[in-house]
Amino acid sequence: MRLSNRRILLGVSGSIAAYKSVFLTRLLVKEGAEVQVVMTDAAKDFVGPLSFSTLSKNEVYSEYFDKESGAWANHVDLGEWPDLMLIAPATANTIAKMCHGICDNLLQATFLSSRAPVMIAPAMDLEMYEHASLTENLETLRSRGVLICDAEEGELASGLSGKGRMAEPEHILDAVVNVLNNGPLSGKRFLVNAGPTYEAIDPVRFIGNRSTGKMGISIANELCKRGAQVDLVLGPSKITSIDHKIRVHHVESAAEMFDKCIEIFPQTEAAILSAAVADFTPSSVSDQKIKKGDNDMQLGLTRTKDILSTLGEMKEERILVGFAMETNDEEANAISKLERKNADMIVLNSLREKGAGFGEQTNKVRMFVKKGKSFDTEVKSKEAIASDIVDKVVELLN
Ligand code: CTP
Repeated sequence: MRLSNRRILLGVSGSIAAYKSVFLTRLLVKEGAEVQVVMTDAAKDFVGPLSFSTLSKNEVYSEYFDKESGAWANHVDLGEWPDLMLIAPATANTIAKMCHGICDNLLQATFLSSRAPVMIAPAMDLEMYEHASLTENLETLRSRGVLICDAEEGELASGLSGKGRMAEPEHILDAVVNVLNNGPLSGKRFLVNAGPTYEAIDPVRFIGNRSTGKMGISIANELCKRGAQVDLVLGPSKITSIDHKIRVHHVESAAEMFDKCIEIFPQTEAAILSAAVADFTPSSVSDQKIKKGDNDMQLGLTRTKDILSTLGEMKEERILVGFAMETNDEEANAISKLERKNADMIVLNSLREKGAGFGEQTNKVRMFVKKGKSFDTEVKSKEAIASDIVDKVVELLN
């Protein structure tokens, strides 16, 4: 699926080509995109909103507010939502309004509110398409960064033949895929795990750790920003600033995290395992809350399965990155971990460094790669450290 988790706001204006946008909606959804549709009133004369809402599985908007319920269709929210605003078909009228900032319908208000890239697929008759006003308007929009999926030649609704018919839905789909997948890591899939794990003792108690997931989430966001497809296996974390394009798999225990990572890893190019996975889990879990008695209590613990080592056995050509948090003999421990777990890189967090580690907004790491080489970073934000780590992973991939 080439548009996994991508958000596309499809604007439909009034042209007979609107029927092709019904098919386009289906193609976009089949490629994994989430689609919301805004129609002009004129578009509804050609096709019904029900076709779009059925295929997109989302409500179709065309009014500023619902006249019966009074509910407001917030064009600012709509404009902020997508990764791409695609107006197909874009009529001569819609193009002229876009050019001059005329805001007399929800589609235009959304266009003016949006900061997402915009692509239009013009559709009109031969003479209209050749008219100087349209040529100038398209040039103006192009100069403002609007992407134009050119009209194609062929039979037109008027019976004439020439340029003006909306590009075929398959061609628009390819143009959308090209725009949205043009980062340096596009086409590459990564597995990242992050956060703590919680090991249940009984229905209300668990053994956990202080990891927030911030470092791993920053790495996942950075990979995504560079165009990669990212699966994030996330233990219990309160952080919500995760790029919507990332596929997040929420897990709780080390065993759940193990199973999910093993499932995803074979489909990826690289895995970055930043999670603070519990090394031990209670040997048995009580299905009822354990009542306290007068005596002390002993808790039996069993080793969890090591995800990094297991992926190390499975890795073949894939790149595998682990983390280490050490309090002593840092360098020797990190190098030994690199070898024992068959990783390509170990990112060492030192608990001795000020401004580094769990719960901090900043970090400082040393990255160990094979042949005894290592690279140090400064103390900086976890986002900036994530970028350094991703740079090194990209070097390893190449
Ligand atoms: N890790 C894992 N699965 C586990 C435990 C840890 O994948 N069950 C991964 C972590 O995500 C991290 C690295 O292993 O990438 C951290 O290793 P650590 O637990 O420090 O390794 P150990 O070899 O167990 O080191 P120590 O002897 O310090 O416990």
